[in-house]
Order: sequence, then structure tokens, then C-alpha cells
Amino acid sequence: MLIDNHGRTVDYLRLAVTDKCNLRCFYCMPEEGIDFVKRKELLSFEENLRIITLLAKEGLRKVRITGGEPFLRKDIMAFIKNLSNVEGIEEIAITSNGTITAKYLDELQILGINKINLSIDALDKQRFFEITKRDLFDTVWNCYKEMIARNFEVKLNCVVMPEKNIEDIIPLVKLASKDPVNIRFIEEMPFNGEGRTHDHLEWNYVKILQHIENHFGKVIKLKDPKNSTALNYKIESYKGSFGIIPAYSRSFCGTCNRLRLTPTGLIKTCLYDNGIFNLRNLIRAGANDQQIVQAIKEAISHRYKDGFEAENNRKGNASISESMATIGG
Ligand code: GTP
Ligand code: 5AD
Ligand code: SF4
Repeated sequence: MLIDNHGRTVDYLRLAVTDKCNLRCFYCMPEEGIDFVKRKELLSFEENLRIITLLAKEGLRKVRITGGEPFLRKDIMAFIKNLSNVEGIEEIAITSNGTITAKYLDELQILGINKINLSIDALDKQRFFEITKRDLFDTVWNCYKEMIARNFEVKLNCVVMPEKNIEDIIPLVKLASKDPVNIRFIEEMPFNGEGRTHDHLEWNYVKILQHIENHFGKVIKLKDPKNSTALNYKIESYKGSFGIIPAYSRSFCGTCNRLRLTPTGLIKTCLYDNGIFNLRNLIRAGANDQQIVQAIKEAISHRYKDGFEAENNRKGNASISESMATIGG
């Protein structure tokens, strides 16, 4: 088992396979995009599989594939297929923007992968366009409906932003009246690629819950899954549920079981750190399996206790300016 210096078991890898994206979500990257990395700087799928195979022997059990938009990476399905054969990996999940995902649903089902999280920050087409800068609401919506029809375990991600999508919160919650879906409202974090920060987060998890209860009355608190980032709730008689993710308030760090690997091979032991070391460089310098595992264990044995400590100890005192697409969320 991989156990950190605070007694937390690390058994979940969030693997960002590309920083490329075909949307330009306001909270993630500027309209002109970011400096996308060159192909040779990316960890190859062979390198990813080697790392995951080694970690699975040490107790890694879950991998979530993120990006950027993971389905933009060439040969992603072949990689997922190989990943599904890695001994010890019990769960593979994907976070996607839903724009090009639908055509892969058949293959994913055959592989037994049924947990997909989709970003959908507005149900109003115009507001969706203003947030993502792309006119793809219908495509994402059709993908969502298709996933529900096929009984995928669907979670929807909505980053809550003043003057952008507050009007969408209640309609999004209402989606769960008929659909067996979990809608999550996420506190906005400063990973927008522009260095835009907030001293005070107005729409924090308390305010989001208040807003929902002002409309529906008291909601039912559900028991949250182990290591959940979301506080989950339900409205009486609804088929689905909703969650609130205090991503900026960082109230769930005490049970954090997550390790992150970025597209260029940076190991992160917290979303808020700016990289502990570069595993790609170590691998390409010829490290053997034991050295790779040792380096990762070393990082895990020096984890920050929470996202505040990680943020305060960023290398070079660098403030947060990276895009979520370069981290994977
Ligand atoms: P599961 O727990 O596997 O269901 O994943 P998830 O819901 O955390 O994954 P998803 O990729 O859908 O992320 C939802 C939101 O949670 C995103 O905004 C993530 O950045 C955020 N998130 C996930 N893990 C962490 C974390 O360790 N710290 C913080 N602050 N936010 C996180
Ligand atoms: N703040 C909060 N959540 C974010 N995401 C992307 N950027 C941000 C941000 N700045 C979320 C999206 C995506 C998930 C991986 O991360 O909802 O679905
Ligand atoms: Fe693309 Fe996801 Fe970033 Fe939106 S949040 S621009 S969908 S990587």
C-alpha cells in the first residue's frame, strides 16, 4: 500500500493525457488558448502504462483519465484498452467535455467502463457559448442523453461563476428529477491559465447550498462515498442527486487518496502544488523500475497536509497561473 506521511492511503491516480482542448472554458483557459505542449514532451502511452503497472503492484486501484480533453489524444482507446488489462486496477473512470465522446461509448461499454464525468456549466445555449466560447451545447447535451440511455454512471460538472451561470443552478438540479444523474456544483479555483485569482470566493459551497435550499427547501444529505470530493444531497422523489465540491475551500484534504500525473510527466501530490518532480525526465534518463517506484514513494512520504500548505509551498513561490488543462483537475 502507498501510505503518505499523514496516514492517508494513496490508491487513486488522476492521469491527464493531453493539455489540448477544443473548448475554451472561462475558468480553465483564455480564449486564445495556452502554449500547448509538443508531442515529444508528452509522456507516451507506453510510459504511462509502465508507471501504472508499477504502481498497481504497490496498491494503486483507480485511474481517472482527464485532460485537456482526453479523447483528443490520438490512440486513446487503444491505451484505455491496455489500461483495462493492468492487473490490480479495479476502476477506470474518465472526465471529458462531451464534445467528441459519444462515438466512443460502444467501445467503452465493451471494456466495462461506465463512469464518465462530463462538464456542463450551463443548460442555456447562449450561456454555454459564453462560458466555453464554442457553439457545442447540443453536441454535449446529446452525448449526455445517450450516456443516460445506455445506463452509464454519469456525473455532471458545473463550475459555479457569478455573472456566468448562477441562473443555471436550479435547472441543473432539476435534471436529477427524472435522470439518474449526479450533478456537481464546483467552487471555482484559480487554475484559469490567466492568473486571475479571488481573495474571497463569493460562490462558495455554503452559498451554493443556500441558493439551492432557497428554491427547494431543505434538501436531504446523503452519505458520501469514501474519499469523496463532493458533499452529496438529494431532493425527495428525485431519481438522481446533486453534489457540491468545495474545491477552493479544500475541506476534504483529510481523506485525499489522489496522486496526479500531468501530460508532461510531472508528479503532483496535491492539485495546488506546482509539481514535485518530473517522472518523464527520470524515465528518459534510464531509471529502472525500482528507481521509479522509489521516487514516487519518496514524493508520497512528503505530502502536504492540505491544499493550503501545498499552495503556500509552491516551488519558486510561484502563484497559481496554470490552466487546469495542464493539470487534469
Ligand atoms: P471521483 O472522485 O473519481 O468521482 O472524481 P471527481 O469527481 O473528483 O473528478 P472530476 O474529474 O469530475 O473532478 C471534479 C472536480 O473536483 C474538478 O473541479 C476537480 O478539479 C476537483 N477535484 C478533484 N480532486 C480534487 C482535489 O484533490 N482537490 C481539489 N481541490 N479539487 C479536486
Ligand atoms: N475551477 C474549478 N473546476 C475546474 N474545472 C476545470 N477548471 C476548473 C477551475 N478553474 C473542472 C471542470 C472539469 C474538471 C476536470 O475540472 O468542471 O470537468
Ligand atoms: Fe477544455 Fe475541460 Fe478546460 Fe473546458 S475545463 S477548456 S473542457 S480542458
